[in-house]
Amino acid sequence: MNKLAEKHIVVGITAGIAAYKSIEFIRLLRKAGACVRVVLTESAQAFVTPLTLQAISGNAVATSLLDPQAELAMGHIELAKWADVVVIAPATADVLARLATGQADDLLTTLCLATRAPLLLAPAMNQQMFAHAAVKANLATLKARGAHTVGPNAGEQACGDVGLGRMAEPSEIFDAVTALLHRENDLAGLVVSVTAGPTQEAIDPVRYISNHSSGKMGFAIAQAFAERGAQVNLIAGPVVLATPANVTRIDVLSAQEMHRHAMALAKQSAVFVGCAAVADYKMAQVAEHKLKKTDAQDTLTLTLVKNPDIIASVAALTAQRPFVVGFAAETQNVADYAQRKLARKNLDMICANDVSRKEIGFGQEQNALSVFWPGGQADLPQASKLTLARALVDLIITHRNKTQSAVNPKE
Ligand code: PMT
Repeated sequence: MNKLAEKHIVVGITAGIAAYKSIEFIRLLRKAGACVRVVLTESAQAFVTPLTLQAISGNAVATSLLDPQAELAMGHIELAKWADVVVIAPATADVLARLATGQADDLLTTLCLATRAPLLLAPAMNQQMFAHAAVKANLATLKARGAHTVGPNAGEQACGDVGLGRMAEPSEIFDAVTALLHRENDLAGLVVSVTAGPTQEAIDPVRYISNHSSGKMGFAIAQAFAERGAQVNLIAGPVVLATPANVTRIDVLSAQEMHRHAMALAKQSAVFVGCAAVADYKMAQVAEHKLKKTDAQDTLTLTLVKNPDIIASVAALTAQRPFVVGFAAETQNVADYAQRKLARKNLDMICANDVSRKEIGFGQEQNALSVFWPGGQADLPQASKLTLARALVDLIITHRNKTQSAVNPKE
C-alpha cells in the first residue's frame, strides 16, 4: 500500500541554496498522492518563489504568521493540526537554532511548536558551519526531543567547499518521509506496558525511601512505542515529566501500587518493559505518626521487608504472558550481573545500564545500553534516551517476532 496517499505533509523551506531541490521533493510527494502545503520563510523567498511552489504543491503557499488572508484560508494552528508530518528542507543553521530554543517568531517555528506531528529536518549549510559546536548542540537538542533528520551529505558545495553539509537528495528525503510514516503505525494494535521512574516507600507520614530515577528513560520508551502506533500504558512512579502523546499514564507511588497495576495490565499486553527503579525493600510497618528524634538515641534502625519483584511476577505468568524486557542498573560487573538477572527473573531481554558513569543513567539526558537476550547481545552506544529508546523498540520487536515464529512456525 502507498504510505503517502492522502497523507498531509507540511513542507517548510528556509533560506538555503538547496531550496531549489525542494521543488523536486514536493513533486515526488504529489506524485505519491500526498497533500502538500508549503510554508516559506521570508528570506527563503529570495531562493524560490511562492508562485512556483503554489503551482507544484497545488495549494496556496503560506509565508507569514501575520497574513490575515492566509489565516482565513487555514490558520497556523489549523495547519499544525492538519499535518501528519512536518518536513523542513532545507533546514538552515538559523532555523535549527530557533527551533532548539523554542522560538516562535515566524510561521514555520510557531507551527513546529504547535504541532504533534513528527518533524523531519534536512539540514543544509556550509560544511564549516555544520561542524560548528553550536549547530551540533542544536541538532542534538532537537533529536533528543524527537526530531528526525535526513542528511546532510558530503560533497562539493555551492560555495566551493567540499565536506558534510549538502542537503540530502529529494529522493532521499522522500524515502525518509515514507519510512517515518511507515514506522508511524506499524505497531498499531500492539498493547505495551512500561514502568518508569522511582518508587517511594513511606517511612512515616512525612518521610520516604526512594532513588534518583527521573523517569526519562521509561518515558522515552513509552514515546518510542507510541510513535509507531502502539497502545501504550505507562505506569509512572513520582516524576515531573509530561506524558508523551497518545500514552495512557497511571501514576503510582509505592512498589506495591506499581505491582498491582503492572499485574493487571501485563495480562493485556504483548510487551512489558520494566524500566522503573523499584525499591527492593519497604518498611515492615509504616509509622502512623512522624518519627521523633530523641536525645537518648544516636542511631535509628528501620526494619525493612522485601517488596514484590514486579518484573519477575510478570515473567512468571503462565497464561497471557507478554514479551518481558527488564533493565539492570549496575555499578560494577555490569554485563555479568545483567545476564544473571535475565536468567534469574526469566526475562526475554535485559538492558544493562552502567550507572557508575555520571554522564549517563539516572537523571541524565543521555544513556548507553548493552542489551542481552538468551543467546545474543547488542550494544546501543551513548545517545539521547529517545534515540536509544527507538533503537531498543526495534530490537524488542525483532526478537519478539523471532520468538513468536519459533513457537508458531507458520506465522
Ligand atoms: O529514570 P532515569 O533517570 O531516566 O534513569 C533510568 C534508569 C537508570 C532508572 C533505567 O535505565 C534503569 O536502569 N532502570 C532499572 C533500575 C533498577 O532498579 O534496576 P534493578 O537492577 O534494581 O532491577 C532489575 C529489574 O527488575 C528492573 O527491570 C526493575 O524494574 C525490576 N524490578 C526490581 C525490583 C522490584 N522489586 N521489582 C522490579 O520489577
